[in-house]
Parts: sequence; structure tokens; C-alpha cells
Amino acid sequence: MASVSIKNVWKYYGKTEAVRDLNLECRDGEFLCILGPSGCGKSSTLRMLAGLEHISAGDILFGEKRVNDLPPKDRDIAMVFENYALYPHKTVYDNIANSLRLRGMDKAEIDQKVKKAATLLEIGALLDRKPVELSGGQKQRTAIGRAIVREPELFLFDEPIAHLDAKLRAHMRGELKLMQRELGTTMIYVTHDQLEALSMADRIAVMHEGVLQQFGTPEEIYRHPVNEWVGGFIGEPPMNFLDCQLEDDSGALTLRHPEFQLSIDGEQASAIRGKANGGAPSAVKLGVRPDEIGISHEPGDQAIKAKVLVTEPLGGDMLVDASVGDTKLLVKTKPTFKADMGDDCYLTFDRTGWHVFAGDSGLAYF
Ligand SMILES: Nc1ncnc2c1ncn2[C@@H]1O[C@H](COP(=O)(O)OP(=O)(O)O)[C@@H](O)[C@H]1O
Ligand SMILES: [Mg+2]
Repeated sequence: MASVSIKNVWKYYGKTEAVRDLNLECRDGEFLCILGPSGCGKSSTLRMLAGLEHISAGDILFGEKRVNDLPPKDRDIAMVFENYALYPHKTVYDNIANSLRLRGMDKAEIDQKVKKAATLLEIGALLDRKPVELSGGQKQRTAIGRAIVREPELFLFDEPIAHLDAKLRAHMRGELKLMQRELGTTMIYVTHDQLEALSMADRIAVMHEGVLQQFGTPEEIYRHPVNEWVGGFIGEPPMNFLDCQLEDDSGALTLRHPEFQLSIDGEQASAIRGKANGGAPSAVKLGVRPDEIGISHEPGDQAIKAKVLVTEPLGGDMLVDASVGDTKLLVKTKPTFKADMGDDCYLTFDRTGWHVFAGDSGLAYF
């Protein structure tokens, strides 16, 4: 029953357009992440789903039922926010049990549910503590426990682990995913952290300035970004972009950069011909991820001459800042690559992973 449809939904705050004509379908049992930078409309979307914010236009459906005018308490949802707002004077146990007591559930049943949630979240030993005696991660688990025991049809989580330290965040990603799989409850999870979205979601909705950019599996979003913005937002370190001219000389497609030229063939050439304006030369951006660039001290077939600016050893990886003419590129390689500032090097791009975006619209040809 807990599929969710967002149909042509808009949100205005006075003249501020926070969400623009959003369409999203979340399947029953799915873990859906809404991902985007601060201010892109994620929380507004979640709050409209929760019934905490009026919908300016459009419809929200839970299953077949239109819920636009349904008050939050009748929506069968449980929310977890970044500032989890536990009752400070209540124990962990009482914080988790609170909503069940309000419902008039009997004591034994409450006890069983609280203990089950506490076991799942590994806070069974902390049930007698007050929030001041808990770490950030333990508080967050308590807030999640409070949501779980309600056994809602739908979880709405808004950046629930954003303030935890990096190590705990990485740990919680795995736990939250496991918890959602075990419970089978539909989850709509808001985050600005692409790693959270990529690692946990069944599907990701990427938003930017109130507009849905792309909706797909983590792999689709990472491998096939629909536009330059998504390509640049997803992936760490970020995708490199090179300004090029695309030329179609009697059958062969060529990417021309002041420092190099590369041919494009096969399906990639067809993809461009299918979309581009009749083969006229046009400005494009070539997008290549740092780990899809090979780097060598020796020239080679189709290799592009570059200069090493600086190397950044990162334990198991090495980042190399290089320049091709005026363009700076980041290359991710192995620490066995040794170089000094100013050294010549040669770069090769992995053609299966690269992307060409139209210069004007930013839309991906492939
Ligand atoms: N209550 C509000 N009143 C006025 N503007 C708001 C309000 N809430 C959010 N906004 C604006 O709407 C836009 C989207 O905000 P929000 O949905 O909170 O984004 P996100 O959660 O992605 O950071 C932002 O420009 C924000 O300043
Ligand atoms: Mg927000």
C-alpha cells in the first residue's frame, strides 16, 4: 500500500519557488533518496509528504489515496530529522515508548516492541539512560527507534546522520540500509551527501534549484548522468570537464581542444548524431572522472600531453593535479606513480566512461 506518487507538485514560500513541478514515484518497500545541495528543495518535498507543509500545486498520493489535505497524524508516517528532538527528561526507553503509550497500547506489547527496536539498533544496554548521557550516534539511534516502533507505512528521514562524525556516518549508512531491508518499510530519505545516497538507495532523485534533474538507480546516476550538473555533482573527487569543439568532417566526429583532438566513433558518434544539430560544429564539454584517466610518464597512442602540478598521496590512492594547456584536471591513480611538480606526463581517457555534454544546454549526448 505504501507506494508514494508525487504528481506535478510545486512549493512556493511567498515568491520563493522551492519545488518546481516535481514528479516522482516511490514503490512499496523502496529506499528512495532525494539528493541535492542545500536549498534545492529536499526538506520542502519531505515536509509536504509528511503533511507539515501546504502543497502549492499538484497532488501527493499514498497508494491510490490522495493525501493533500490529510493531517500528519492520519498519514501513517514516521519522521526522523537531523535534530532528533528527544525528550530530555525521559529515558531512552520512555522516549521510544512514548507514541505507543499515547496510542493506549498495553504495557507488555510496548515492552516487547521497544526491546525489539533497541536490539535492532544495538541500544539495548542504554534503555535507562537519559539523552544527556548519550553520544550523538546513540541519540540518533534512539530517534530512529522511536520511528520504528510506530510501524508506519512510510519512513521520512531528513538528513538523520548529517551531523555525526565521518566514521560513525559510514557505519550508520550500512545499518540504516539493513534496518530498512529487514523491516521492508518504504523509505524516503533526504540527504545532501552523495555517498549516503549512492550507498543506500534503491533509486535516487537528484534535485537542483527546486528541479528534479534525474531519477534512477545509483548506477544509472553515476554511469549515465543526464546533464553536466549531475555529472559534476555525483562522484568524489568530481568529474573533470574540458571545453572542446565538436566537428563533423565528412563522416568522422572529432573533439577538438586547443591541446589535442580525439575522434568519437561507434555508438557514441551515433548518439551525438541523433541529438546534435545537423553536424554543425558546436561547443561541448568533455566529462571524464578522475579514476577513468590513465597517467604515464611515456607517450602512447591517443595519449594527451600534460604537466604535473602537484601530487596528493592518499594512502591507497594518489591524486595528481595536472594541466592540459589552461585546463586543470584531477587524476586518480596508484601511489606507485611518482612525479615532481612540472614533470611532463601523458593522459589517456577511458572512452567507455567518458561523457560529452552540449555546451549550451548542458544535456548529455552520452
Ligand atoms: N519556511 C520557509 N519560508 C521561506 N522560504 C523557505 C522556507 N523553507 C525553505 N525555504 C526556501 O526554500 C528553498 C528550499 O529549501 P529546503 O526545502 O529547506 O531545501 P533543502 O532541504 O534542500 O536544503 C530554499 O531557498 C529555502 O530558503
Ligand atoms: Mg533540508
